[in-house]
Amino acid sequence: MEAQYVGESDGLTFWLARPQDYDEVMAISHGIYAGNDYLPHRYKIWMTEKNRVTIIARRDGKLMALESGLVVDGGKTIVMEGLRVCPTERGRGVAGVIQRVTDRYVKQLYPSVNTKRLTRRDAPKPGHMSKFTILARRAALTLTGEAERFKSFVLGLKTKLDSIEKTEGSTTINHQLVVLKDDQKLEALLLNPDLSTRLQLPGGAIIQDWQPLKPMESNLEILRRRKLTWLANISNDKPTFMSFYTHPYPIPFNGGSLRLNIDLYGEDLCLARQALITHLEQVMGEIHGTVLVHIYMPQALWAGMRKFCEGDEGVKQLGDYWEQMFLEREMS
Ligand SMILES: CC(C)(COP(=O)(O)OP(=O)(O)OC[C@H]1O[C@@H](n2cnc3c(N)ncnc32)[C@H](O)[C@@H]1OP(=O)(O)O)[C@@H](O)C(=O)NCCC(=O)NCCS
Repeated sequence: MEAQYVGESDGLTFWLARPQDYDEVMAISHGIYAGNDYLPHRYKIWMTEKNRVTIIARRDGKLMALESGLVVDGGKTIVMEGLRVCPTERGRGVAGVIQRVTDRYVKQLYPSVNTKRLTRRDAPKPGHMSKFTILARRAALTLTGEAERFKSFVLGLKTKLDSIEKTEGSTTINHQLVVLKDDQKLEALLLNPDLSTRLQLPGGAIIQDWQPLKPMESNLEILRRRKLTWLANISNDKPTFMSFYTHPYPIPFNGGSLRLNIDLYGEDLCLARQALITHLEQVMGEIHGTVLVHIYMPQALWAGMRKFCEGDEGVKQLGDYWEQMFLEREMS
């Protein structure tokens, strides 16, 4: 496949990324996100994904940087992902250059795009990204353990849940979570105009494994592609809680591990506990080796969820409180 030229700036040439650039992209990616990098797994998918633009920068033929974006929200928004610069080139403004070139190219290709969104771990450095507005912050809890230890971890969580419910006098009957298997039910739920307020969606979006998507018709196809397993308390038709997990995928952590992302929406701790148990049970047949579980949730849930998960010998918390930030800026 011949490389498609995009432009040049600051001594760099820019090209659309191709499947055969994979090894070079991986060569600049060592250690990114402390081993949690999704790109080794996603790169090939990105190459054919509809409405995605992935650009690489080269100097004297050598790969220097990569940036990618997915056009969502009915063509109005580009969600930027994957930004990285070759370690020896960092600190020289290359990230700024590739972002400007990508913005220009995206505007040419998709003139309707007027907003750029991205998610990142923790707050940007002062001065960096000053043109961005912070739309939301989500709390994140990370657990890790060997796959075979998760069965007893979940059993322990169930025992704890029973005892909490007895003490607090709440019962799961009042708080029933249902698996949303029916596409139509799920779509009706997601397209309900007051979903965002009821679930306090961060910045009015569903952040699926770091990808913010407005709950709107044109994004349903993207969510469907991800083959997520959704839960919600739909006993009344105005659910106050919703969650899903993204199928675990391989990451470089610890010489090769699986990453499982669970996203929780709504502030009911009782439902959040149940959702965690259910998602871990659902995923049990898919996990092996070392597993990193990242649970993203409203800040109000974090302390309660951490307490709920502590005390197991095999599955332990990794690191402390951290945040997923959701940022936006207008594209000129
Ligand atoms: C983060 C990283 C891409 C920064 O690249 P860099 O070329 O060293 O960054 P510099 O500080 O020299 O460049 C500054 C420019 O990049 C932008 N920038 C820096 N870090 C950024 C980030 N995480 N997201 C978006 N833009 C960023 C700055 O806003 C600035 O833009 P400007 O020139 O328009 O003002 C680079 O350190 C890297 O590859 N790190 C590992 C991967 C990673 O952590 N990616 C972050 C994804 S959120």
